[in-house]
Amino acid sequence: MDGARLIDRLALDSDAERRDVVEGLRGRPARIAPKYFYDEVGCALYGAICRLPEYYPTRTEAAIFERHRREIAEAAGRGRQFVDLGAGDCAKARQWLASLRPSRYVAVDIAIHEIASALGGLAPDFPDLPMAGVATDFSRVLDLDGALDDTPALFFYPGSSIGNFTPEEATAFLGRVRGYCARRPGSALLIGVDGRKEKAVLEAAYDDAAGVTAAFNRNMLRHLNVRFGFDFAPAAFGHVGRYDEALGRVEMHLESLREQVVHLDGEPRRFPAGERIHTESSYKYSPEGFEALLAAAGFGAVRRWESAQQPYFVFLAS
Ligand code: AVI
Repeated sequence: MDGARLIDRLALDSDAERRDVVEGLRGRPARIAPKYFYDEVGCALYGAICRLPEYYPTRTEAAIFERHRREIAEAAGRGRQFVDLGAGDCAKARQWLASLRPSRYVAVDIAIHEIASALGGLAPDFPDLPMAGVATDFSRVLDLDGALDDTPALFFYPGSSIGNFTPEEATAFLGRVRGYCARRPGSALLIGVDGRKEKAVLEAAYDDAAGVTAAFNRNMLRHLNVRFGFDFAPAAFGHVGRYDEALGRVEMHLESLREQVVHLDGEPRRFPAGERIHTESSYKYSPEGFEALLAAAGFGAVRRWESAQQPYFVFLAS
């Protein structure tokens, strides 16, 4: 990662993490936090999901960005520090660097291995752009203190990742971003948000024919085995991706395909056939619903761009 500063805020407290994970798995219903999808294999599988014919969010958002790039860049303002939340392989940010001409680029992600190598790949193409990476688990709290300078910032949160928070968590997260913006007048948030749509379209996107999303979901168990020494048999769990219309969210679960026992820190946890582990919620919003969330987080001015193909929205909020 030549030249870019890497700030490690992961402060891994393995014992606390392990306790949280074990407690979630012992609960009824059992649950695992979605951040455990993203080991190296999981990041690669998520990249493959984004290229699936059924998974419309990535290409729908890319088309909105492509179509309105100049207008969005003008509205957002050039020369800001560009703060990429959930930067991953930095591919989405790369598309914006020429039009936004940021003063610096700050890539923020939980996947430290991914941002380190992505920044290394970006640097030769943008030799004059100061870059920094911040490895942090912002599903807990967004802590960018000391990583930003005092100049106006453009926060970039694409991909509808905001949908993986509950609406209450999303409001708190957006409130943190708004706080950073308020201390730097001229700052804004550019965010992509998936819209509510037909159940069949949503369920195909989260349960694709090639089984990539199923592999992504099961990989979480393999990751937990490696990380915490559990003995899950990933193949003994089936993938479930269903849209709950009343809650406005797609839920992913892993369903035990047979009676089985998993050892969590040596203690047995029995999973009867049919018991499910909740691994992710992906909330879908109406434009008004998301604007209400932005307002609750303290954002005043909001502009919106959308797709003619699918309900999907890009908001610029300040
Ligand atoms: C990262 N996030 C926005 C994805 C989503 O659509 O909720 C994760 C994902 N889960 C299954 N497919 C993709």
